[in-house]
Amino acid sequence: MAESMKGLRRTHRCAELTKENIGETVTIMGWVQKNRNKGGLVFVDVRDRSGIIQVVFEEGKSDKALLEKAAGLRLEYVAAVVGKVEKRSGAVNENIKTGEIEIVPQELRILSESETPPFPVEENSKTKEEVRLKYRYLDLRRPDMQRNLMMRSQAATLTRQFLAEEGFLEIETPILIGSTPEGARDYLVPSRIHQGHFYALPQSPQLFKQLLMCSGCDRYFQLAKCFRDEDLRADRQPEFTQIDMELSFVDVEDVLDVNERLLAKLFKEILKVEVPLPIPRMTWQEAMDRYGSDKPDIRFGMELTDITEVVKGCEFAVFKGAIENGGTVRGINAKGQGAMPRKKIDKLAEFAKGYGAKGLAYAAVQEDGTVKSSFSKFMKDEEMSALIEAMGAEKGDLLLFAADKNKVVWDVLGALRLELARQMELLDKSDYRFLWVTEFPLLEWSEEQDRFVAMHHPFTMPMEEDLEYIDSDPGRVRAKAYDIVLNGTELGGGSVRIFNPDIQNKMFEVLGFTPEQAQEQFGFLLTAFKYGVPPHAGLAYGLDRLIMLMAKEDSIRDVIAFPKVKDASDLMTEAPTKVDDKQLEELGLEVVKMEEKE
Ligand code: AMO
Ligand code: AMP
Repeated sequence: MAESMKGLRRTHRCAELTKENIGETVTIMGWVQKNRNKGGLVFVDVRDRSGIIQVVFEEGKSDKALLEKAAGLRLEYVAAVVGKVEKRSGAVNENIKTGEIEIVPQELRILSESETPPFPVEENSKTKEEVRLKYRYLDLRRPDMQRNLMMRSQAATLTRQFLAEEGFLEIETPILIGSTPEGARDYLVPSRIHQGHFYALPQSPQLFKQLLMCSGCDRYFQLAKCFRDEDLRADRQPEFTQIDMELSFVDVEDVLDVNERLLAKLFKEILKVEVPLPIPRMTWQEAMDRYGSDKPDIRFGMELTDITEVVKGCEFAVFKGAIENGGTVRGINAKGQGAMPRKKIDKLAEFAKGYGAKGLAYAAVQEDGTVKSSFSKFMKDEEMSALIEAMGAEKGDLLLFAADKNKVVWDVLGALRLELARQMELLDKSDYRFLWVTEFPLLEWSEEQDRFVAMHHPFTMPMEEDLEYIDSDPGRVRAKAYDIVLNGTELGGGSVRIFNPDIQNKMFEVLGFTPEQAQEQFGFLLTAFKYGVPPHAGLAYGLDRLIMLMAKEDSIRDVIAFPKVKDASDLMTEAPTKVDDKQLEELGLEVVKMEEKE
């Protein structure tokens, strides 16, 4: 039976009540978290987004009908309680904000009933994610999820406030657009009016924000929904949100400066964490050399050491072969892991193979000073000693080596370093270490496409001093591009844009676009640039990733109200769904191939 709330008005959220309210008559509304009936004494915990308050129905204080009604309250019923705030009669509960008080009720209304929920609505649920996502509305009632959503909202509000104060205009850009060049697959939307034509959903507002600079908007930002049809991971969703911005008449320094202050403000106001400014910077080359990654986690060391020169002359075929093929040999030192059992090292080698390694050579310095190694039989004693020294190894250390092309060596050791740090429990989620990675390569060779592709996007400005190599050695040209990295996660990225048509045309040429193709895809931007384009630069954060790290979650799914799962479906609404033939007909579409899935 559902009662009306006529005549009642909520006065407080449950956990907004404090000792200060003792003696007041209040009205709260929320969900039944717990109901303990001790015979003549019924304790009901009521929960809303703010937290929990205890309501005590007691024989003598409450009449019999009220007591009976309270006893009938079941989990997740929605109730309204009118009552007086009193000091707790029983023991204080230190675990909740309202632990020193309780409500002694005069009136109870059951606003709606609930079936038994498929899982308990409580903190740190052990429920399988599939079940949580199927009943997401219940899952979101849980306090940790509520906290995440509140944190996200607070971050959005602070961002808007900060950027407005810095002179940014919030401007919306369209969702139904032509293709954008961020390099993932587009989501397409068929046009009914122009049959056979498609809109693409934006992978980012990139082109529009550059056009807004042409429009004289000077500084733009948007909390922008972006869509990318790519393989999903813990930090990737098909639709996600960017804090997207673009600034006119600026260079790298200006963009980094305003963003450092934005990050510092968010961390200070939301987490009470001071971000020391300026945020350290590292070039892409240094990041790769030291950490094997363009998004290094600098919370711990275990840096890579290039030992190519040290092992150049040795007889170990694996090292020799790699060096002869133009590759390198590098290693990491897992401090204190020298006693790692062989089985566990083999597991690490398997892990390394997942990143393209052909094997993983190791050397463990024993407590007695001897060395146990998978390749000692190929090394002279002095060669091994030189290696141990180059790696800065001491008794009890485990050294792991990869020999291959640079890219493989970096990938393998970069990943291994993180895996070891996880195993060694070196990663503290409340230690926030920001890093700017700068001077990215402009281009990256794609084996798949057999041509250079833009590492960031085709509008990124090359560094002036490298322009001379753009024809002779394009891979060597660095870009005015930067990423902001936090604890090994790429939070955001951006660049100074090309605003000189000659450089832009050159860039298209290097990327293998004919002038016609460039005109066809980006003609409107190139035309706009003919009418007075200001120098401009920008950046975009993944808001979901930012909140994930702030909330100390492992997946962005936990900071998105209604996320999708690995196969890009929504377990609650069951999207994507089939559509009826009439809809297809209107769009001039026919489904010719359908995967059988039962
Ligand atoms: P980029 O492609 O680097 O740059 O994207 C910026 C940031 O968006 C986040 N992000 C994602 N988050 C969740 N799921 C995804 N699938 C996903 N893809 C990207 C990341 C990333 O750092 N237009 C440029 C920015 C610019 O040059 O100004 C852009 O989109 O945190
Ligand atoms: P093998 O001679 O193939 O038995 O290899 C000897 C050791 O070198 C083993 O520990 C292998 O895992 C390791 N190894 C093989 N290939 C590589 C490689 N490319 N880089 C590093 N170690 C390797």
